[in-house]
Amino acid sequence: MKTIIEKIRQDVEVFNGQEEEALRRAGGIIRRGGLVAFPTETVYGLGGDALNRESSRRIYEAKGRPSDNPLIVHICRFEDIETIVDRVPEEAVRIADAFWPGPLTMILHKSERVPYETTGGLDTVAVRLPAHPAARRLIEYSGGYVAAPSANLSGRPSPTEARYVAEDMDGRIDMLLDGGQVGIGLESTIVDLTVKPPQILRPGYVTEEMLNRVIGEVDTDVTILHKDSDQAPKAPGMKYRHYAPKGELVIVEGEPDRVAAYINRFAAEAAAQGKRTGIIGTSESLAQYRADVVKCLGERSDEESIARNLYSVLRQMDEEQVERIYSESFAAQGFGQAIMNRLLKAAGHKVVKIERENP
Ligand code: TXA
Ligand code: MG
Repeated sequence: MKTIIEKIRQDVEVFNGQEEEALRRAGGIIRRGGLVAFPTETVYGLGGDALNRESSRRIYEAKGRPSDNPLIVHICRFEDIETIVDRVPEEAVRIADAFWPGPLTMILHKSERVPYETTGGLDTVAVRLPAHPAARRLIEYSGGYVAAPSANLSGRPSPTEARYVAEDMDGRIDMLLDGGQVGIGLESTIVDLTVKPPQILRPGYVTEEMLNRVIGEVDTDVTILHKDSDQAPKAPGMKYRHYAPKGELVIVEGEPDRVAAYINRFAAEAAAQGKRTGIIGTSESLAQYRADVVKCLGERSDEESIARNLYSVLRQMDEEQVERIYSESFAAQGFGQAIMNRLLKAAGHKVVKIERENP
C-alpha cells in the first residue's frame, strides 16, 4: 500500500482549497473503511471509522496492537456523544463545558452502535472531542466518529511529528496528514465516569486539580506512578510496556548537582564497557553532561516544553542507536504527573534515588 502524504497547517480555523481537498479525500478514505493518520493537539492519531468493526480490526493490525486494548472514539460536536453512549451523566456535561474541545477523554457506558471491536470487548467507550481544527474537520468529513489510537507501532513512543508517523506507518496506512509538530506532546487525560468517584486512568494536560474544580472529588489510578505487580491498571493500554526507546533507560532522582555527577560517572562507565551512551537533560543542566548523545528536553521551569519534546527525544535516542540512556527526573505534580508517568513507563520503572549528603 502506498501512503499518500498531504500537508495541513495547524494554527488556522479556515483551510485553503488544497487543504480542504485533502481533508475531504481523507474523510472519504475513512468512510470507505481505510485508515488516515492525522494531527491532534496531543499526539498524532491513526483514524478509522469507529462504527465499522472492520476498520477497528485494521487499526489493530496496522499498529501491531493487541486487540483487547480499546480505542478512543473522536467526535467533532458534543451532541454526537449521544449516538455512542447509553446515557450522558451530568458530570460529563460539566467536563465537556470546561475542557472540550481539548486534551481530555471520558469513559462512559457504550451504546449498541459501537462495535466491540472498537472497545476491545468492553461495555464502556472512551470519547474525546479534540481541539485541533484539522482533526475536527477530518472527523466531520469522516462521518462523525473516528476511532484513533496514537499513530505509532505498538510499544513505540507516540508520534509528535509526521515524520515519526511515517517512520512507523509508511506503507501500512492509506494517508498521512502532516500538520507539523503537535502542541502538547503527551496523550489526553483519561477520566472514567462509570465509577464513583470518577477516576483518572491516565494523567495528561488536564490535571486532577482542574477536574476537582469542575466535578469535585476525583480519584487517580494508583498504578500511574507506582509499579505494582499485584494490581493491573484500569486502562487496558496502560499495562503494556509502552513509550519505550530501544536502549535501556534509567531515571536519576535527587539534588541537581549530585544527579549530574552520578549520570556523568555512570555514562562514562557504560562507555568504558563499549556501550553507546545517551543523556537526557534540561537547558539548565545540559552543559555539564558528557556522553555520545546529549539531548535537551526543554526548560525544567517550563513543563510544557518538557512534555512537547519527550517522545521526540526518546525516538532520537533510537535513531542514534543509543544503548544506555540516563535521564533527569521531574516533579510529579500537576502536569508533571503526566510527564513522570510516561518517563517511568519508558524506563520500565528503573529509577535511581540519590540520597542527600549527611550533614
Ligand atoms: O491524546 C490521545 O488520547 C490520543 C490522540 C490520538 O487522541 N489517543 C490515544 O489513544 O492516546 P491510545 O489508543 O494510544 O490510548 C488509549 C488509551 C489506552 O490506554 C486504552 O486502554 C484506554 O485509552 N481506553 C480506551 N477505551 C477504554 C475504556 N473503555 N476503558 C478503559 N480504558 C480505555
Ligand atoms: Mg498509544
